Amino acid sequence: MHSPSPLPLVDLPVRRLTRGDLVSCADLSEDRGWPRDEHRWGLLLSAGTGYGIDDPDGKGLAAACVVMSYGPRLAAVGMLLVAGRHARQGIARRLMRHVLEEVGPTPLALYATPEGQPLYEKLGFAQVGRTERVLGRFRAEDGGAASPAVARGSAATTRPAAADDLQAMVRLDLPVFGIDRTHLIARLPAFSDRLQVAEENGELTGYAALWPSGDAHVVGPLVARDTATAKALVTALAATTDRPLRADVDARHEELLGWLVERGLEPGSRTAVMTYGIEDLPGDASRRFAPLTIATG
Ligand SMILES: CC(C)(COP(=O)(O)OP(=O)(O)OC[C@H]1O[C@@H](n2cnc3c(N)ncnc32)[C@H](O)[C@@H]1OP(=O)(O)O)[C@@H](O)C(=O)NCCC(=O)NCCS
Repeated sequence: MHSPSPLPLVDLPVRRLTRGDLVSCADLSEDRGWPRDEHRWGLLLSAGTGYGIDDPDGKGLAAACVVMSYGPRLAAVGMLLVAGRHARQGIARRLMRHVLEEVGPTPLALYATPEGQPLYEKLGFAQVGRTERVLGRFRAEDGGAASPAVARGSAATTRPAAADDLQAMVRLDLPVFGIDRTHLIARLPAFSDRLQVAEENGELTGYAALWPSGDAHVVGPLVARDTATAKALVTALAATTDRPLRADVDARHEELLGWLVERGLEPGSRTAVMTYGIEDLPGDASRRFAPLTIATG
């Protein structure tokens, strides 16, 4: 008699993740050379739905991903990670097939790394855009400390968000993201180290958050009426941190990208914006400069 052979990895069950899986998720990120980002995983596992496959050797998770639902019109897939020791055995494909079954007819969006893109193409996702990551120490335009209130050459005034700005942020965000994401915006005050709004004549014209990732601070979301307002928000946020800044900027916003590079940030990795079951992302890309995180769509 011999013991039954173990299930092939691709046949192992997919289960829902909870906040109790946070450390295993962070371990997976680390395994793939990403920041552990427990803070980001915490947001994603509470605002979204995590799926994972347990490592058959009891070493935490073999794979994970998160689905952020925006109702019947859109869901975003993010943080698809397979432990390096289990790579190229069909596990990512398995998880994605599971996600496609779970969301049914709901269209999907995601930001694909170069490693992930071939899989998504095989599953039927199409590229509709791209983002460019910039990272580094931000130098304010006057060479000294950035003014937290007004960026040079811009009429946009910014200030830290107050609790009663949330309604106006949600109203501003709706036509920009294209779908109500109150469930995420409401979490920004707790999630971010700094939340900044831009206003003109008493009207909100933009908002942006700054949150910690590894030894950097990430700017996202970055929503603004125009590039000058986006620059003012970034300048104000940068003045509140000593850490390097990181942002995943929609590549259509060339002027902002060029300015960030002039200000000392360096171009890094790119991601492809991909959709499934929908021609393009909803909303207004001209005012959508950077996502909250590339894991939330
Ligand atoms: C991308 C990733 C999730 C793929 O996981 P995986 O379990 O190894 O992928 P699978 O075995 O299911 O591969 C499915 C298909 O994807 C493609 N693929 C997977 N890894 C690839 C790689 N490193 N380079 C190019 N194509 C790749 C192949 O087409 C593969 O099919 P094949 O093996 O029949 O040729 C994994 O490499 C990973 O965790 N990478 C780091 C994090 C990351 O970039 N995640 C994607 C976020 S969008």
